[in-house]
Amino acid sequence: MKATFVKQEGTVPYQLKEFIKDNSLIVRSPGRINLIGEHTDYNDGYVLPAAIDKAAYIVITPGNDNKIHLQSVDMNESYSTTVDDIIKSVDQSWPNYLLGVIAQFIKAGINIPGFHAALTGDIPLGAGLSSSAAVECAMALALNEITHAGFDKLRLVRMAQKAEHEFAGVQCGIMDQFASVFGKKDHVIRLDCRSLEYEYEPLNMNGYHLVLLDTNVKHSLASTEYNVRRKQCETGVAMIQQHHHEVKSLRDVTMDMLDKYVLPEDIVVYQRCKYVVEENNRLLEGCKDLEANDLVAFGNKMFETHHGLSKLYEVSCPELDFLVTLVKDNPDVLGARMMGGGFGGCTLNIVKEEAISKLIDDTTAAYKTAMGKELKAYIVNIEDGSSVIG
Ligand code: GLA
Repeated sequence: MKATFVKQEGTVPYQLKEFIKDNSLIVRSPGRINLIGEHTDYNDGYVLPAAIDKAAYIVITPGNDNKIHLQSVDMNESYSTTVDDIIKSVDQSWPNYLLGVIAQFIKAGINIPGFHAALTGDIPLGAGLSSSAAVECAMALALNEITHAGFDKLRLVRMAQKAEHEFAGVQCGIMDQFASVFGKKDHVIRLDCRSLEYEYEPLNMNGYHLVLLDTNVKHSLASTEYNVRRKQCETGVAMIQQHHHEVKSLRDVTMDMLDKYVLPEDIVVYQRCKYVVEENNRLLEGCKDLEANDLVAFGNKMFETHHGLSKLYEVSCPELDFLVTLVKDNPDVLGARMMGGGFGGCTLNIVKEEAISKLIDDTTAAYKTAMGKELKAYIVNIEDGSSVIG
């Protein structure tokens, strides 16, 4: 069977060079941002992500026996097992992102040889940039190549998503893995998470840049609360289904239905669902803004999204709220919002190019004074998705 991915020569991180043998393969899989459409993917809604210029890298070298050695270069840790003993690791969490993918290949009936895999990357961990999805996708691509399984990109995305469900315990949607694999330089992906139809839209920033401000708050609450939010959305759908059998997910729900059937029953579930219904509409309108090159209107929608995530969906935190409020009246910032699962991580900001360094200096100082924490800032560029680089 043919390899699914075109090989793109790329820069191999220096720390991986010592692991490269004659029969090694090197893969890169990026992190992601999401312009708008948060917590909509598992509700059959729309998202607007893009792959970024920060990635996970794996050097994989097949062996002659059934032994598997996984090595995290950045953490200076390793994990060993055999092909017939792929179970969740209890003491270390990072191997689970790799083991979870191996388990999916085995389930799919693919013969896995023993191998050595060395992992590194420059995606900040716990920053809401999907470092875990990037690792899963890198592993899926690496195994697809060394086993000649011939799975297409979407199949690999689904396997990586399942790995997150089964080995990391987060019932995530498809956005992160999809963006990591399908990303395209200088484009955002408008993905319909119900049909999985997608379009690449060029992102014309017209003198503005995407800037991430990292709270340095690690989103440890995220996995439990994430699964709770998912359940609350399902509860809302079930309440409506009693009256509208045709409704399958929040994608099919209107505000009228929520007002009539959910509001009288459960205010919290109502607020969660209201946010999702509004966010799907916001994304569709926001795409029109981008087509019309109206970054001002788009930016306003990002502020609205943040408000919804903070007050209705309740997945923000004081640090994220502080950073968004701080830039809200700054004329050089067109839009800002928390990004990803929430409870920490980064805000995504659309900032005028000339104003970036002053904005970073000012927010760093204000954040330190108000929150007593260090701020990190990253100017992001949109890059291609997963590839074999050597
Ligand atoms: C996490 C999940 C995604 C998505 C976002 C919120 O990143 O992995 O599937 O639900 O949160 O939009």
